[in-house]
Order: sequence, then C-alpha cells, then structure tokens
Amino acid sequence: MTDYPSMVYVRLLQKCNARCVMCDSYTKNQESARLDYVTNLIDEFEGLGVNEVRFTGGETLMYKHLGPLLEFTRGKRMKFSLITNGTALRKFSEALIASKIGKIICSIDSPYPAIHNEVRKTRSLLEHASAGIKTINDKTANGERAMQFVVNTVVSSENYYHLRDFVPFLHEHHVRYWNLIPIHGEQPIRMNRAQIDVAIREIDYILSRIQREALDLTLNVSDPLDFFSTAIRGTKPAELTGGLKRCHVVSQVAFIDAVNGKLTGCNDLMYSGFDEMIVGDILDKPFREVWGNDAFRLTRERFSCQALHRCDRCEPTNIKLNKHLERVGAETNDRKVPIWF
Ligand SMILES: C[S@@+](CC[C@H](N)C(=O)[O-])C[C@H]1O[C@@H](n2cnc3c(N)ncnc32)[C@H](O)[C@@H]1O
Ligand code: SF4
Ligand code: SF4
Repeated sequence: MTDYPSMVYVRLLQKCNARCVMCDSYTKNQESARLDYVTNLIDEFEGLGVNEVRFTGGETLMYKHLGPLLEFTRGKRMKFSLITNGTALRKFSEALIASKIGKIICSIDSPYPAIHNEVRKTRSLLEHASAGIKTINDKTANGERAMQFVVNTVVSSENYYHLRDFVPFLHEHHVRYWNLIPIHGEQPIRMNRAQIDVAIREIDYILSRIQREALDLTLNVSDPLDFFSTAIRGTKPAELTGGLKRCHVVSQVAFIDAVNGKLTGCNDLMYSGFDEMIVGDILDKPFREVWGNDAFRLTRERFSCQALHRCDRCEPTNIKLNKHLERVGAETNDRKVPIWF
C-alpha cells in the first residue's frame, strides 16, 4: 500500500448554476470550502509528492475564491485540473490560462443545444460551453502550452441514439479524450434495454471509426459491452479487469469534500454506501495524519481486496485506470496519473 495518493479530487462546493435532471448537487449545502484549507492542503500535497489535484463541485467556476485559488496554483510544481459545466469558461478564460490548470474536463451531454440545455435545464449552456472551449483554445493556440480539454458525457435516454454525432463536435473543439459515463441513480432519463442496445451499437461504431480513420480521439471504453455491464447489468468490476486481485484506485485516488470535511479513497466512493471507507472531520487535521492513520490504512487495505467484488458503480474510467495501474506496478514505481485520466 502506498503512503499517499497520486491524484486527489477536491470538492470545492456543491452549489451550482445548472439544474441537471440527473444531479441534485444544487439542492445541497450552499457553502464554499475555506480558501486557506484548500491552499494548505495543496502545500501539503506538494510536499508529499501528489501528482495531480482535480477540483470538482457543484460548479467549480462558481467557487467564490476561484481567482485567488487559480493564482495560488501558479507557483506549484504539481498538476491541476477541474471539472466544469462550462458556463463561465469564457469569463474566466484569462485566469484559467494564467493558472497552473492544464486540463479542463467539461460536461457535454449532447452536441445539440436543444438536448443538452434541456437535460441540464439551463438556457444556452451548450452555446456558452462551446464558446468557452473555443476561446481558450484560440488564446492558447500559439502559446507555450495548450489547455487540454476532456469531455464527460453522461449516457442517458436523451442521447443514446446520437452518440456518433459527438465526433465532429469533439474534433471542432480539439478534444482528444472523451469519457462516457453511464447514468447512475434512479433518474427520469435512465435507459431501457432497447435503448442500451442502440447505445452499444453507437459506441461500437465510434470505436471502429476511430480505428478505421485513425482519429485522434481516445475513449475511456474499449468494449461497449463492458461499459453497460458495469452500469446497468450490475456486473462486478472483477469480471471486467481481467482477474485483478485488488483495486489499486483506492490507494492511488483520494476524494475530499472540502466543505463538509469528508475523505475517501476512490472518487466513486463518496456516495456508494461503503461508509467504512469514509473518514469525517478532517478539516482541522493534516492530510498525512488522516490518510496515514493506522485504522484507515487497514480499512483501505481490506477494502482494496474486496472492492472489485463489491462495488456496483465503478466508472469505466476507473476500470481502465485499475488495469493501467496493474500494468505499471501501482504499489511501487510509476505514480504518474495517465494523460487520459
Ligand atoms: C457532479 S459534476 C461536477 C462538475 C460540474 N458541475 C459538471 O457538471 O461537470 C461531475 C460529473 O458528474 C456527472 N454526473 C452528474 N450526475 C450524474 C449521474 N446521475 N450519473 C452519472 N454522472 C453524473 C456530470 O455530468 C459531471 O461530468
Ligand atoms: S452542472 Fe454538474 S454539479 Fe451542476 S447540477 Fe449539473 S452535474 Fe450537478
Ligand atoms: S472497484 Fe471501482 S468503484 Fe470500487 S473502489 Fe475500486 S475503482 Fe472505486
């Protein structure tokens, strides 16, 4: 078991300016994380050798201390990324470019405004996100470093039939990494069996097109059947990871809710019902003390041996990450987060 994670998700807030039908984040606690807590955490991570911090929400670009936080990242060696719905990308384009954020993961659920904006119950959201991505791409086109954009797409009854139509959109926005996420929870836009069959054919078509035309696009799934077996048929991750004995993500990826002071291993676990994997009241303690605590180490150790047989909401990207970590030797050497994660 490693001493510290390679990647830490930090939730800055749950407040949000969108009203997505599949997410209730905007109904939750409206407070923001304290800036000094987040910056101290980053300082500590830098000392430990954590590879990347990923900010999430709620809507990250609504974080009330966003300006000072972005400025703070500039002096750091480590990598930073953030997940956003894209509404305010244009507004913050200069600050984002000047910051150390190197990767922006933008959620796009359809290349068609009428569908995306309806799923996210927010007027002109797709138009704003698209304009924001293009603005940042244009401004960084001739600079020292381009911003890397990743698109997250929640696959649902609203978009299963036109997944292939994303390809030109992704190309136009210079997006090289595309994460398909099966919708989770009892949502009004869940898919039925017939819709899943169509989605499987769509993903199959996209994968073969990428190969045939050598497109510069990487999906988080290599087999559409795997994608739906985890999400919908409840197949355990053990069956999809080719005989892996333990889950490496639990020790390599941490998730901190910086508002309510909860910590867990693996970004999928905060709401999965495995309460033994969640530690509370961490806000007034150094991260090292909580993560390195003997009892929590033992819990992680135990859980990592059981997770692949117990978890029923393992995202395709984490299935892929587990296979990658097994290949590179998760417990020993290469602690770099792969570029597609
Ligand atoms: C909770 S959001 C926070 C960041 C930002 N507000 C956004 O939407 O990108 C993080 C990711 O979870 C995804 N998500 C939200 N609800 C989901 C659901 N019911 N099933 C699967 N993914 C979901 C979002 O689309 C987004 O990519
Ligand atoms: S934009 Fe993100 S946080 Fe906001 S409601 Fe939608 S999925 Fe949830
Ligand atoms: S099996 Fe998947 S969901 Fe469970 S802890 Fe591992 S990566 Fe997370």
